[in-house]
Amino acid sequence: MRAKGFFISFEGIDGSGKSTQTKLLKDQLEALGHDVVLTREPGGSPGAEEIRALVLQGDPDRWSARTEILLFTAARRDHLERTIQPALDAGKIVICDRFADSTRMYQGLSRGDLRGAVDQLHSLMIGVEPDLTLLIDMDPVEGLSRALARNTDEERFEDFGESLQIAMRKGFLSLAQEFAARFAVVDGARSIDVVASDILAQTRRRLDAR
Ligand code: ADP
Ligand code: TYD
Repeated sequence: MRAKGFFISFEGIDGSGKSTQTKLLKDQLEALGHDVVLTREPGGSPGAEEIRALVLQGDPDRWSARTEILLFTAARRDHLERTIQPALDAGKIVICDRFADSTRMYQGLSRGDLRGAVDQLHSLMIGVEPDLTLLIDMDPVEGLSRALARNTDEERFEDFGESLQIAMRKGFLSLAQEFAARFAVVDGARSIDVVASDILAQTRRRLDAR
């Protein structure tokens, strides 16, 4: 069932500025009078936040790619039922820091080609795509150095290193072509304010066109 609200996801490599920009977009849309829910994946509901700790902490080889597809999709199903869908049904704008495109990339491409399995499970268990996906594109080396400078204990994917970031950047750009109708690519190598105003302009254009 299509919702009344508007669903925006942010995608991009680690350190590209997603969490910075999701907060700024929320503030700007609220200033324009919109009702906005800001959430993130993995997580965004109590159960999904518990799964987040399982998938983001520990050794890089803690889970196989197939097991991760199940864990991320389980977290997403809970997040969708408890947070995203109720907000969309209430007519709100949902801004989500990562969504299914991250699984298409990180689990679908990082350790062999599992994209088909990701897509099958997605259509069986999730079946929802964002109305707008903002891809913040940037240099992988710079992104990784920004991400590691944060120094958190959620570094399982950062620990896969630069080659993963390079593959993810390329993969996200081709996903943007595959789903051209809902993607907007934003150059993340500019100042925070310039990126934010570009994102706001792209979002307002899509909101006005709906
Ligand atoms: P992500 O959520 O994509 O991993 P963050 O928003 O957490 O990225 O940003 C990673 C780091 O880079 C943070 O320390 C943030 O302050 C910084 N940062 C974000 N955007 C920019 C930018 N346009 N220029 C310089 N530094 C930035
Ligand atoms: P996130 O907290 O957005 O990290 P960052 O701020 O560094 O971009 O996401 C944590 C990690 O989880 C990130 O490295 C990508 C990974 N991830 C997947 O592998 N699959 C998924 O489906 C999602 C949502 C995230």
